[in-house]
Amino acid sequence: MDRTHEITVTINGVKVTRRVPARQHLIDFLREDLGLTGSHAGCEHGVCGACTVRVDGTIVRGCLTLAVQADGRRVDTIEGLSDSGELAPLQEAFHRRNAAQCGYCTPGMLIAAQDLVANHPGATREQIREHLSGNYCRCTGYQAIVDAIEDVLGK
Ligand code: FES
Ligand code: FES
Repeated sequence: MDRTHEITVTINGVKVTRRVPARQHLIDFLREDLGLTGSHAGCEHGVCGACTVRVDGTIVRGCLTLAVQADGRRVDTIEGLSDSGELAPLQEAFHRRNAAQCGYCTPGMLIAAQDLVANHPGATREQIREHLSGNYCRCTGYQAIVDAIEDVLGK
């Protein structure tokens, strides 16, 4: 039997308290319990990056993080980061460069890209590729994604 724990997490700026199974992953908590389905569950074993969210400002894989590990922390998802306008320049560049096709990878890709823009504003094309190496895209071949990020970095 899976034990449950009460957790309180600040999700996109709103404090939420819920009981969760000890082994529930953060991505499932967000999607299934809270209806925040913008973050995707792809491989569910830490490879594809579709589940990327932020915990206390650091990008993590929602499928490798337990919901109980988010207790007392701040979690930001694609919904909150879109609403705040923080991702607007990247979203606009992705749109202009046609860097989102099926869109499955896009939420995780945008959050990973924003981490790069915020922390490595001088990143080269190679470093952009390296930073995104944990985010898989089956559609675009990455070229347009890297172009879009370069636009935002002003290259
Ligand atoms: S679903 Fe988490 S890395 Fe693929
Ligand atoms: S746009 Fe389809 S997986 Fe990236």
